[in-house]
Amino acid sequence: MTERTLILVKPDGVERGLTGEILRRVEAKGYRITALQQISASTEQLAQHYAEHEGKPFYQPLVDFMLSGPVVAAVVEGERVIEGFRSLAGTTEPTTAAPGTIRGDLGRDWGEKVQKNLVHGSDSVESAEREIGIWFS
Ligand code: PPS
Repeated sequence: MTERTLILVKPDGVERGLTGEILRRVEAKGYRITALQQISASTEQLAQHYAEHEGKPFYQPLVDFMLSGPVVAAVVEGERVIEGFRSLAGTTEPTTAAPGTIRGDLGRDWGEKVQKNLVHGSDSVESAEREIGIWFS
């Protein structure tokens, strides 16, 4: 079944010039980018995007990090792309994410409280549709 997902290249990925490499991996896997834009996120967009995490210890550092520079938002389509992109991205912590994944190959800890983990990918069909509405209104 063809799905859509929302991918964000986070400020660390944009700042380090990794947007092309990340999108290359998405396309090389066989997924199709159907919308793409660079944006400076607003506090309101981030409050909506991360609503389910409000109150968790990482919430405010995460929001501050996402406000620290532009992000690149993409809508990506393909069969089982939601699960497929999360597999390409690797687990949350770049230091221990598996080699071969975006976070495992391109990320690491930088001695800061926040996880600069390069990318976000939606975790379900419902989240994807909600998140696409936030970033591509
Ligand atoms: S949870 O609580 O299990 O739902 O958390 P998780 O799915 O691992 O992460 C949810 C999002 O929060 C980000 N995250 C962090 N950001 C900054 N610092 C810390 N310590 C941290 N821990 C988790 C994680 O990358 C997820 O963000 P997105 O944008 O979805 O990748």
